[in-house]
Amino acid sequence: MGDRKGLILIGAPGSGKGTQAKKLQEQLGYAHISTGDLLRAAVAAGSELGLRAKGFMDAGGLVPDALVIDLLLEALATPAAAAGFILDGFPRTLPQAEALDAAVRIDKVIDLQVPFGLIEERVTGRRMSPSGHVYHVKYSPPKVEGICDITGEALYQRSDDTPDKVRARLSKFEAETRPVIARYQSKGIVVAVDGVGDPDEVYARIAAVL
Ligand code: AP5
Repeated sequence: MGDRKGLILIGAPGSGKGTQAKKLQEQLGYAHISTGDLLRAAVAAGSELGLRAKGFMDAGGLVPDALVIDLLLEALATPAAAAGFILDGFPRTLPQAEALDAAVRIDKVIDLQVPFGLIEERVTGRRMSPSGHVYHVKYSPPKVEGICDITGEALYQRSDDTPDKVRARLSKFEAETRPVIARYQSKGIVVAVDGVGDPDEVYARIAAVL
């Protein structure tokens, strides 16, 4: 693994992990690996993994560890991740963190903190293009409503971005992912970053601690 850099962006649903990971990828040239994006691609392709994952995702639950760990280890083994990687949405459970730590070195964990009171508005206002570009109806609107600025595709709303699913996802975060943050805190590699404010301001805070 040599000098390869390993970063984790961890935070509640809608805390801005994907938004910030894309900026970090552009600046640092490391691979942005989002298990949520990989799983949505598998669902869209109708693969066996996608068929098995879809029900858990639609319910706002977590996909079983064994499926997600294999997916992540495959992504880490690609040439794109050779210089470094930014994990977004993984690890979310202690078994996932143990599998990750057995495979690679993690240099830093950015704990992106956003009060739960702001999360619902962020998540329910999110719009996506099929190519994965992310918008928000209020905070990051496209130039033409409902159309991706970059690809011209029609934007859609994720099936798990409804208020009841957001609550289910937040309770999973509290139960399953908080202990992951504590695990890395005990290793002394967690840096808390305030995720409230303009995305560029949040990015500047992250860049300052890297
Ligand atoms: P995943 O896609 O990882 O969902 P998530 O963790 O719930 O995170 P989100 O994608 O909702 O939010 P984000 O933090 O990336 O925020 P974003 O930048 O988009 O996972 C989806 C599902 O897949 C899971 O529920 C689970 O079922 C399954 N899954 C995935 N990984 C798994 C794993 N490891 N184990 C088991 N199951 C797994 O921003 C949100 C919105 O806010 C956007 O509209 C954005 O424009 C806006 N925004 C961003 N930053 C700001 C800002 N600073 N100010 C105002 N608005 C902002």
